[in-house]
Amino acid sequence: MIKNNETLEYKNIDLLEKLNFGDRKEYFRHKEVILFHGDALNEHSFDREFIDLIITSPPYNVGIDYNSNNDELNYEQYLAFSEKWMKNCYDWSKTQTRFCLNIPLDKNKGGHRAVGADLTQIAQKVGWKYKTTIIWNEGNISRRTAWGSWKSASAPVVIAPVELIVVFYKDDWKKTNGTKISDITADEFKDWTQGVWVFNGESKKRIGHPAPFPKELPYRCIKLFSYQKDIIFDPFAGSGTTLLVAENLERRAVGLELDDKYCELAKIRIMQETGTIEFK
Ligand SMILES: C[S@@+](CC[C@H](N)C(=O)[O-])C[C@H]1O[C@@H](n2cnc3c(N)ncnc32)[C@H](O)[C@@H]1O
Repeated sequence: MIKNNETLEYKNIDLLEKLNFGDRKEYFRHKEVILFHGDALNEHSFDREFIDLIITSPPYNVGIDYNSNNDELNYEQYLAFSEKWMKNCYDWSKTQTRFCLNIPLDKNKGGHRAVGADLTQIAQKVGWKYKTTIIWNEGNISRRTAWGSWKSASAPVVIAPVELIVVFYKDDWKKTNGTKISDITADEFKDWTQGVWVFNGESKKRIGHPAPFPKELPYRCIKLFSYQKDIIFDPFAGSGTTLLVAENLERRAVGLELDDKYCELAKIRIMQETGTIEFK
């Protein structure tokens, strides 16, 4: 990997213009947002350290139909998949990069697994330092599928209707690089630094993607953990939620998405929601 010290500091040079090498295709560019059609598992997708903040929700491996990619690996394969992409993201990150990982707390389909704990361990194995865990209480989602043994201690099933946003960083938590321009209000800061967040999930039908997260998730992470003009990265861009919110908050953003159908969805959504094109 080429290490480019110029990328360690914010400068007026357009960093996005320097992302011109890599084993992937530029699908769409709008202002300071670029979406690449490419693979988070390919270490050659980028050739340098460019990221300030990662916000992502990877495939959960729960059998979701993602058009072209497989969401039903066995658990060991899923952990190997997770290790590979988290290592790639580490290598593409600058010193002081923060990493907000939205994952389930646990999984009960196909065997009970501590997904949150296992992925937190793997992230640290590849170099990420652990900072904190935010509990996202999805007001409108119930994960309940069965009682197990109704009103009996024989085999009750307990499921928490929450997801996690695990926060990591590279090298140092204290952020000394970037523009130093924060846009978070006092009330937002007080509210969001309490690590239980309550807001609704997003409708799959409305967005046209099988697993979108709501705009509120990247909105809070971006305002809390980055400065204006920072480069926000989502290696599993899906319908483009992170990129869209980043653009609205005057950040720069880069996304990777494997499936061309979702690349097109993200493109149209960003153009539509930023007023670039109008639809009837
Ligand atoms: C949970 S969804 C992300 C949804 C996104 N946060 C949103 O709000 O729309 C995961 C996405 O990762 C994509 N994906 C799966 N494997 C990938 C890979 N190896 N590289 C890049 N994208 C991948 C899937 O096509 C899917 O769109």
